[in-house]
Amino acid sequence: MSDAINRAWTMASRPTGEPKQENFAVEESPIPSPKHGELLIRTLFMSLDPYMRGRMRPGPSYATPLQPGDIMTGEVVARVEQSKSSNYTVGDIVRSSIGWREWAAVSDHSVKRVDPSLGPVSTAVGVLGMPGLTAYHGLLDIGQPKAGDTLVVSAASGAVGAVVGQIGKINGCNVIGVAGSDKKCNYVKNDLGFDYTINYKTQEVSSELKRLSPNGVDVYFDNVGGPVLDAVLDNLAFKARIAICGQISQYNSDDIPLGPRNMWALLRTQSRAEGFLVYAFEQQHEISRARLAGWIKEGLLKYKEDIVDGFEKAPEAFIGLLRGDNFGKLLIKVSD
Ligand SMILES: NC(=O)c1ccc[n+]([C@@H]2O[C@H](COP(=O)([O-])OP(=O)(O)OC[C@H]3O[C@@H](n4cnc5c(N)ncnc54)[C@H](OP(=O)(O)O)[C@@H]3O)[C@@H](O)[C@H]2O)c1
Repeated sequence: MSDAINRAWTMASRPTGEPKQENFAVEESPIPSPKHGELLIRTLFMSLDPYMRGRMRPGPSYATPLQPGDIMTGEVVARVEQSKSSNYTVGDIVRSSIGWREWAAVSDHSVKRVDPSLGPVSTAVGVLGMPGLTAYHGLLDIGQPKAGDTLVVSAASGAVGAVVGQIGKINGCNVIGVAGSDKKCNYVKNDLGFDYTINYKTQEVSSELKRLSPNGVDVYFDNVGGPVLDAVLDNLAFKARIAICGQISQYNSDDIPLGPRNMWALLRTQSRAEGFLVYAFEQQHEISRARLAGWIKEGLLKYKEDIVDGFEKAPEAFIGLLRGDNFGKLLIKVSD
């Protein structure tokens, strides 16, 4: 196998504004041979996620930025093709943070086993993986919803938002989803059971929130920041909770305004806004994953995957993710 070709996508240059195809380059190398204690893994599904845009920035973040020439960051679901470890056998399915790569030789300690009995293996980087766990902990631990609360979630049809809204329904909330097209709005209302939706591209979010939730918003799960966050701040209930999960409206911006603009809204309503990272809850992930899997089996939690076929399409699909072209959890299918 050593003379076969392995491909990886690198960040060829740092993007300014929206990434372009020329910011990415394919690097070819031989398929590696695993050493003692290592596995040769082959990517089945590659997860594309908004945070990857943050890794392409030079500035301070919670993770080390990529340098030009580095392999794009990311988690994959992969099959063990060769094993030099007593812990894994050929055919095992694992998760691994090898980035945008087709093959890799990795230490057996660096991978996580995927349990195929929980669901299709692609879900290990979706509803049963990082995005699903983000929704779970961000809503339940940071948002702390109570039955009867009004919960608003942005990027509502996406990998995180769709799970947030459904967990809100399981907890007895009145759920309003904000999304960027009528198709996405219809999906979260009709297929996922959200109570109301707002299309932020065609409707005025603040006045719609006033109409749909005259007593105010108790919990806001913020995936986007920007004008949608401003609109929610206008409509907070007393002692509201804002779980700051993502700020995708700013990820392609090189000129992010400094400072929150409407802290008066928090003061007036004695509300709390708290940022969080899914990894802060790592100790609880196995229990939360089992709960998410249980809800799927009970029919209480649905999920949608947007699977793009072909390793070569990764940059195009990623650029589209930052524009809202994806509909559900974005995955690249790399091999069968
Ligand atoms: N804190 C954490 O640990 C953590 C972990 C995972 C993810 N996140 C964050 O969670 C958010 C959602 O991630 P995801 O994986 O579920 O992605 P996703 O929702 O599946 O896809 C991103 C969606 O964001 C929306 N969007 C894009 N540009 C926008 C803009 N300018 N204004 C408003 N919405 C915009 C688009 O939906 P529309 O068509 O509806 O606009 C797009 O489909 C991201 O901000 C991500 O960084 C945080």
